[in-house]
Amino acid sequence: MKRLSSLAVFCFLLTAVSQCSSNEPQAPEQSKSVSSEENRSEEQEAKEQSKSESKEIPEIQEIDISATIDQKMALAGAEVFSAKCTMCHKPSENFIGPAAAGVLERRTPDWLMKMIMYPDLMQEQDIVVQKLIEEYNGAVMPNQNITFEEARSILEYYRTL
Ligand code: HEC
Repeated sequence: MKRLSSLAVFCFLLTAVSQCSSNEPQAPEQSKSVSSEENRSEEQEAKEQSKSESKEIPEIQEIDISATIDQKMALAGAEVFSAKCTMCHKPSENFIGPAAAGVLERRTPDWLMKMIMYPDLMQEQDIVVQKLIEEYNGAVMPNQNITFEEARSILEYYRTL
């Protein structure tokens, strides 16, 4: 009888131990799922990186700025400006965006061409633009698919202000 009860105790212990050990594999499994999550976010990061790499701001072809203002080009620029920009930019006062006047003293022609043609990419990648967004209460300039010629003529218009 004693033997039987000790056998029962043994059996009880055995099941307790086996239950205990059956719990054990759960721990590594949990840490495995965490590490696979880490892998996933690493993959996502890599994907996002390659996405932003593929959206590099295109180089602007070299532009000639003549000593005298090309009035015809400036007029064409004024027209594009009033059609696509004046809802946010005034010639000489800050509005939703900065005033147009004086912009050539603040920025290089190359930077301006990029800002006019690719404002969305500049917002992502240019620290100066990111600071402007803060200054202008989070307002962002939309990409309106301005062509090289249009942007170049706006630059000439800026020279008349
Ligand atoms: C919906 C409003 C909006 C429109 C439309 C818009 N802009 Fe802007 N622009 C902004 C804002 C706001 C900023 C400040 C940067 C930012 O927040 O993206 C800015 C910044 C700029 C800058 C930089 C100014 C500086 O002082 O460095 C230039 C240049 C510019 N815009 C030119 C243009 C031209 C040219 C057009 C038209 C083709 C245009 N913008 C259309 C809102 C606009």
